[in-house]
Amino acid sequence: MRTHKCGEVTKQHLGETVALCGWVHRRRDHGGVIFIDLRDREGLVQVVFNPESAETFAIAESVRSEYVLRVKGTVRDRLEGTVNPKMKTGEIEVLVNHIEVLNESETPPFPIESDIEVNEEMRLRYRYIDLRRTEMQQKMRVRREVTRNLRNFLDDREYYEIETPILTKATPEGARDYIVPSRTHENAFFALPQSPQLYKQLLMISGMDKYYQVVRCFRDEDLRADRQPEFTQLDIETSFMNEDEIMDTMEQMIRNLFAEVINVELDENFPVMTYAEAMRLYGSDKPDLRIPLQFVDIAEDMKDVDFKVFSGPANDPNGRVVALKIPNGSDLSRKEIDGLTKYVSIYGARGLAYIKVNDRDAGLEGLQSPIVKFAPAEVWESVLIKTAAKTGDLIFFGADKTNIVNEAIGALRVKIGLDRGLLEGEWKPLWLTDFPMFDWDDKNQRWNAIHHPFTAPSCTMEELVANPGEALSRAYDLILNGTELGGGSIRINRTDMQTQVFEILGIGKQEAREKFGFLLDALKYGCPPHGGIAFGLDRLVMLMTGSSSIRDVIAFPKTQTAACPLIDAPAVVNDAQLRELGIKLRQPASKEDAQQDD
Ligand code: AMO
Ligand code: AMP
Repeated sequence: MRTHKCGEVTKQHLGETVALCGWVHRRRDHGGVIFIDLRDREGLVQVVFNPESAETFAIAESVRSEYVLRVKGTVRDRLEGTVNPKMKTGEIEVLVNHIEVLNESETPPFPIESDIEVNEEMRLRYRYIDLRRTEMQQKMRVRREVTRNLRNFLDDREYYEIETPILTKATPEGARDYIVPSRTHENAFFALPQSPQLYKQLLMISGMDKYYQVVRCFRDEDLRADRQPEFTQLDIETSFMNEDEIMDTMEQMIRNLFAEVINVELDENFPVMTYAEAMRLYGSDKPDLRIPLQFVDIAEDMKDVDFKVFSGPANDPNGRVVALKIPNGSDLSRKEIDGLTKYVSIYGARGLAYIKVNDRDAGLEGLQSPIVKFAPAEVWESVLIKTAAKTGDLIFFGADKTNIVNEAIGALRVKIGLDRGLLEGEWKPLWLTDFPMFDWDDKNQRWNAIHHPFTAPSCTMEELVANPGEALSRAYDLILNGTELGGGSIRINRTDMQTQVFEILGIGKQEAREKFGFLLDALKYGCPPHGGIAFGLDRLVMLMTGSSSIRDVIAFPKTQTAACPLIDAPAVVNDAQLRELGIKLRQPASKEDAQQDD
């Protein structure tokens, strides 16, 4: 039907007859001449209709936005003064001598021009129109290049792409499962995979050596800007590689990806930081290193002050007192500080004390603060020295249980960094290592796995049992600009260690056998040392395209309430279907069902 794509025609085709197909992006009538910007995936081209060819002209007059056309014509130079150097096709136009309307279009619910704000509900309902916008076409293009690049990298290194089941059994990755009833096995359910974790481990036991998969994962969890209920992982597993070798290969892969797809040179060696260090300096296990602000611990200084708000947490083994210095922050107004105090309260902080350093050389006199009166001059001098504060700086304080201080002051650090334009550098990758194996869940009085229960500890089994809270894992996360891009670990490859970890997690022998008997058995048959990682592909593309929402890089995403407005899913199913599955709803979907229930 066509000889070229619209967006490909350039000066190189001058004088040639071309046939093009595409959508009417814009139509302009100019004193008897009609100009149409014809659009396809590759871009726009200007096609021109003269009244001399009366029949063609009449059809051109009748077309509207988003009609689908096929035109034939000759490529010629644009008139001087009408050249558009911003467009690839901006130097030429096509003088049309034949036009066919391949299909008409109703007026679209919103215009295709990219810079018009349309509410998201509307965009998702008419996603096929939304995806026509240049911005979305561009994002889909980057996404395609990203997967292609990653696949090539792994294929070149002999990683096998292997598919794993979607109808499976619960894999614990910390979210709720999506479950699917089985018709053939009464009262039994499949779970959709939260990740292919156990299958990829089984593939290593199967001798597949190196595996990857671009794979859909399903997690029923609270949604945020960087989370979807179904999302895509680049999932990887290898045998006979230790964590340094795996991290090294992955780093090469990501560096290569950024260079080739978006022309960005990432650091030659990604920095590596321990979890403990990240929590100490940033209160976060995914610190955005573009923001130069760091926590300074001052509990030592605050142990004996009269201010209970500070001395309490300073003397509590589960408490923390930190200072966060904002260079030149003393211009923050009372109103702005009140706003920030409200902001940290979302994270449970009960206040946000501060000191403005109006004159560093004037002792207490030079400090402006509601809390200076609570402690002697030496205490504040020590804080000023530790934070290296200068005249004009402002210091915020957080004092509470450690997790509250970390979350509240960690969020404050990011907010101030972004709001005040303090970012240094554009791309800051970081490996985070030496995570604890477990954290203590106070409410349920039990240990939880920080990664997943298949992650190997870096200590012996005896040490693990003696002190689960101190044990570190052989896990690693890749962080980029404050987003967790990927996470992985070296896995447990022995039945006794795996059983022990289940036990610490409160999964008894019987439950372990019911849920993971297949794994415990498989580990007995010569399981090689193995490990891997999974990257959030959507998040990766989101960062690479500078998108603010993960939904913008997924062709058909779900809304914040995990629904699809385009096809109207999830939906009610009819009674016959439920009967077949042996399911009776607690709250009948319709009146008729209710009557049948009675
Ligand atoms: P993890 O749970 O850390 O590890 O997931 C790996 C990466 O997947 C992305 N991700 C998500 N992206 C979008 N929406 C979500 N709801 C979502 N949840 C996770 C993140 C995350 O870093 N089996 C292990 C990996 C391994 O150990 O090899 C796993 O799934 O970018
Ligand atoms: P108050 O004595 O409650 O008026 O508090 C004095 C100052 O300490 C105010 O600026 C409060 O915002 C601040 N403040 C109160 N609780 C905390 C806390 N847990 N961490 C940091 N600052 C706090």
